Amino acid sequence: MLTVLFAAPDLWDEYRDVLPKALAQAGLDAQLVREAPPETVDYIIYAPSAPLQDFTPFTRAKAVLSLWAGVERIVGNATLTQPLCRMVDPSLTESMVEWVVGHTLRHHLGMDAHIVNPDHNWTPVVPPLARNRPVTVLGLGALGSACATALTGLNFPVTGWSRTARDVPGVRCLSGGDGLRAALTGAQIVVTLLPRTPDTENTLNAETLALPARGAVVLNPGRGPLIDDEALLAALNTGQIGHATLDVFRVEPLPAAHAFWAHPRVTVTPHIAADTRAESASGVIAENIRRAEAGAPLLHLVNRRTGY
Ligand SMILES: NC(=O)c1ccc[n+]([C@@H]2O[C@H](COP(=O)([O-])OP(=O)(O)OC[C@H]3O[C@@H](n4cnc5c(N)ncnc54)[C@H](OP(=O)(O)O)[C@@H]3O)[C@@H](O)[C@H]2O)c1
Repeated sequence: MLTVLFAAPDLWDEYRDVLPKALAQAGLDAQLVREAPPETVDYIIYAPSAPLQDFTPFTRAKAVLSLWAGVERIVGNATLTQPLCRMVDPSLTESMVEWVVGHTLRHHLGMDAHIVNPDHNWTPVVPPLARNRPVTVLGLGALGSACATALTGLNFPVTGWSRTARDVPGVRCLSGGDGLRAALTGAQIVVTLLPRTPDTENTLNAETLALPARGAVVLNPGRGPLIDDEALLAALNTGQIGHATLDVFRVEPLPAAHAFWAHPRVTVTPHIAADTRAESASGVIAENIRRAEAGAPLLHLVNRRTGY
C-alpha cells in the first residue's frame, strides 16, 4: 500500500474525504495520512503553508505534489531532491479565466461610471468594440494561454508573451526581450500571468510601463513582485496607466498603510483570482501518482533551473 503524506494541515478538512476517493478511483491502493515516519512516505502533498521544510528524511518519496500553481516558496529548497510538480487544475484555470475576463470587461465597458454615479450623470460614452481594444497577456502557460484564448473568443486582439516561443491559436505570440517591448507597445489592457522567478521580478517597471497606450489598464493576478510598485504608482499618478486591478502583492495580506489601498485608480482583490479546488485538484494528484506508479512521466514537473 502507498503512503501519501498530506503536509498541508490547514487544508486537511477540504481534502480528507475527496482525495482518498480520487486515489481509489485511479485504481491506487493508497492511504492518505497526516503523519508517518518519513522513510515510509511514497508521495508528499505540499502547500506553501506547510510546516514541512526539510525533505531530507523522506528517502523513499517519489515526488512532492504542490497544491499551488506558483512554487516560488519551495522551488529553491535545497533539501528537496525529489521531483516537484506544480498544480494545474482545470477548476483553477476556469476561475482564473473568469477573473481575467470579468475585470477586462469592467474596464473595457467603463462599467464603473454607471455602477457608481451619485450625481445621476447622463453622459453617454460608447466603448469601442472589443476588436478595437488590444490586450496583452504576459505569460502563456496553463493560465495565460487559457485567458488569452477566452479573450480572443470575445474578439479582443490578443498578444501573448512567453520565455520560449509558443503557438496559441488566434493569439499573436511573442517571446524574449524584444518580444516584451513589442507585446506591450500600444496595449490597452495588460494582464500579468508570469510565475515569480528571479527573471520575472519587476517585468513591469518604469521603462516597460511607458510602452502601453496612455491610460492602459494593468491586471495582475500573477504575483506581486512582477510589478515595481513605486513605478506603477508613478505611472498611475501621471495617467500613463489608467487603472490597476491587483490580486497579488509583495506582502500579503496587503498592509493597511500601503498606497494601493487608498489610490483612487487601484482595485485590490485579496488573492482570490483562482483558488485550487479540492475536488478537481484531487483528481489531478491521483492521476499524477497513477502515472508515476505506472512508470509514465510526471505531469506539470517544475524545472528547477528556470524556477517554474
Ligand atoms: N492569483 C491567483 O489566485 C493565482 C492562482 C494560480 C496561479 N497564480 C500565478 O499564476 C502564475 C502562472 O501560472 P501558470 O500555471 O500559467 O504557469 P505556467 O504554466 O508555468 O506558465 C508560465 C508562463 O510564464 C512564462 N514565463 C516564465 N518565465 C518567463 C520569463 N522570464 N519571460 C517570459 N515569460 C516567462 C512561461 O514561458 P514558457 O511558455 O516559455 O515556459 C509560461 O508561458 C503562477 O506561477 C502563479 O504565480 C495566481
